[in-house]
Amino acid sequence: MKLLEGKVALVTGAARGIGKAIALKFASEGADVAFTDLNIDENGLATQKEIEAFGVRAKGYASNAADFEDTHNVVAEIVKDFGRVDILVNNAGITRDGLMMRMTEQQWDMVINVNLKSAFNFVHALTPVMMKQKCGSIINMASVVGVSGNAGQSNYSASKAGMIGLAKSIAKELGSRGIRANAIAPGFIITDMTAVLSEEVKAEWAKQIPLRRGGTPDDVANTAVYLASDLSSYVTGQVINVCGGMNT
Ligand SMILES: NC(=O)c1ccc[n+]([C@@H]2O[C@H](COP(=O)([O-])OP(=O)(O)OC[C@H]3O[C@@H](n4cnc5c(N)ncnc54)[C@H](O)[C@@H]3O)[C@@H](O)[C@H]2O)c1
Repeated sequence: MKLLEGKVALVTGAARGIGKAIALKFASEGADVAFTDLNIDENGLATQKEIEAFGVRAKGYASNAADFEDTHNVVAEIVKDFGRVDILVNNAGITRDGLMMRMTEQQWDMVINVNLKSAFNFVHALTPVMMKQKCGSIINMASVVGVSGNAGQSNYSASKAGMIGLAKSIAKELGSRGIRANAIAPGFIITDMTAVLSEEVKAEWAKQIPLRRGGTPDDVANTAVYLASDLSSYVTGQVINVCGGMNT
C-alpha cells in the first residue's frame, strides 16, 4: 500500500521547483493532486502530465495565491472536482530582497502577501472542508531564515517566521478536529529561485552547510510526504529543518 493512497492533495505554486517535486512525490505515493500556479502555461501543463503519469488524477489551476477571493473560488472548484482535500501544501513563494534602508513598501507588501497571506487564504478556505472530513494535514513552506533571520531579506524572513507561527497556531486551534499543521524550513535548495544568486553568495551559503551541498527539491519533497502521510499522525505544530545541518 502506498503512503498516500486514497488521499487528495492541493499544492500551491507547483508548476516548477519545490512545489512540483512535492506534487510528483505525492503522486508517486498514490495521491490525486490538484495544484495551483499564477498561470498554467506549458510548464504547468507539463507538470500536470508528469503527475498523471503516476496513474493518479491531476489538474493545474491558474490562481493568485495572494488573492483572498481568487483563492476561495479556486478551492471551491477543486473541492467540486476532487470531492475532498486531505493535504494542503502552502508552497507558493517569492523573494524581493533588499536592505531595510532601500526596501520599498511594494517589496514588503508583495512578499508578505504572496508568502504569508496566501497561506491564510488557503487555510481559511479549506478549514470548513477539513473540519467536515475530520482530518487534514497542512504543511507550510517556511525557510531557515524564518528562524534565523537574514540581512537583506527582512520581508522574506518575516513572512517565513509568520508561516511558522501560523502552522503552530492552527495546530493548536484545529488539533481536536483531527487536523494537523506543520512547517518545513528548507535551507539552500537548488531551484530557479536560488539560481539568480551570485556565485559569491552561493559559496558563502555552501560554507555554512555541514553536508557540503545544496539541497534538492526532492530532499524537501521527502519530508513533505512524511508530514502529509499517517507516518506523522502524532506530529503537529512542528518545524522540520531540511537544510543539510546549517541551522542546527
Ligand atoms: N529554493 C530555496 O532555497 C528555498 C529555501 C527555503 C524556502 N523556499 C520556499 O519554497 C517555496 C518554493 O520555492 P522554489 O525554490 O521552488 O521557488 P520557484 O520560484 O522555483 O517556484 C515558486 C512557484 O510559485 C509560483 N508563484 C509565485 N507567486 C505565486 C502566486 N502569487 N500564486 C501562485 N503561485 C505563485 C511561481 O510561479 C513558481 O512556480 C517558496 O515558498 C520558497 O520561499 C525555497
